[in-house]
Amino acid sequence: MSGFPGVFDLADAAAYGRWRDSKLSRAARSVADLVVEVQDIAHLSDAEHAALAGRVAHSGMAVYAEPPKAGRDDKAALRALAGRFGLAGLDSNHLADDDGVTPLSVHRDGIRSRYIPYTERPIAWHTDGYYNPPERTVRALLLHCARPAAQGGANRLMDHEILYILLRDEDPELIRVLMAPDAMTIPGNDEDGMQRPATTGPVFSVDGLGNLHMRYTARTRSIEWSEAARPAADAIRRLLETPSPFIFEHVLQPGQGLVSNNPLHTREPFADDSARPRLLYRARFHDRIQDQS
Ligand SMILES: [Fe+2]
Repeated sequence: MSGFPGVFDLADAAAYGRWRDSKLSRAARSVADLVVEVQDIAHLSDAEHAALAGRVAHSGMAVYAEPPKAGRDDKAALRALAGRFGLAGLDSNHLADDDGVTPLSVHRDGIRSRYIPYTERPIAWHTDGYYNPPERTVRALLLHCARPAAQGGANRLMDHEILYILLRDEDPELIRVLMAPDAMTIPGNDEDGMQRPATTGPVFSVDGLGNLHMRYTARTRSIEWSEAARPAADAIRRLLETPSPFIFEHVLQPGQGLVSNNPLHTREPFADDSARPRLLYRARFHDRIQDQS
């Protein structure tokens, strides 16, 4: 957001207008705009790094594509990639391996089988960490695909800054209610059996550096919207269900991955081949990939 002070201040329509026009003129309009071919994510060249960083700056995300590397330690490579983007504050959860990089694959039994990420079921639009307390806000998200599913398993993706624009252009009041500190509550101890306290907070917030964060889930069970925010929640749902050149759909292929500032995303349902099960690695960070452009 550097160079655009006041962008997210509803009283500063001029600053918002300049940022909006710049954003819409540079944002990706297809998955192809996001993809960068790289040789090795553990050792990005300066040009590869710049190409990925530019896409993250303009579109909130980029997709790298490296030649599949048999026998390589993908988790170590993903950590090296994170380090290159200045990401150090890994968010570990109680199901992640000790190093904070989570292998995502189908678990047919055991504790993980109770959580949607470890099933073949679809995951509705959300940003990661929407149930986290503020000190564990997830600002960056990396995914690496070791093996895709036999069928399905696409991610739909949308830069939350674009959604902000669509909402504010429709009615700035929608933004005002979504920035209220009581907009959305995730009750503690939800039906997944996860033991956690309730978290109440805004959907849109702006950090000390002027960056916009979005905390969101489209799920309807175990979510409490403030009375004032309900029309805005409906507007978000409608916009995410409306075809848009800014909503991308992509199945990560072997050696491909997502470098992002935790945009809105889904996971579509998939069918696994147990002989070659889907395997993605996920890393979440409390820091954001800074705009270096
Ligand atoms: Fe997610």
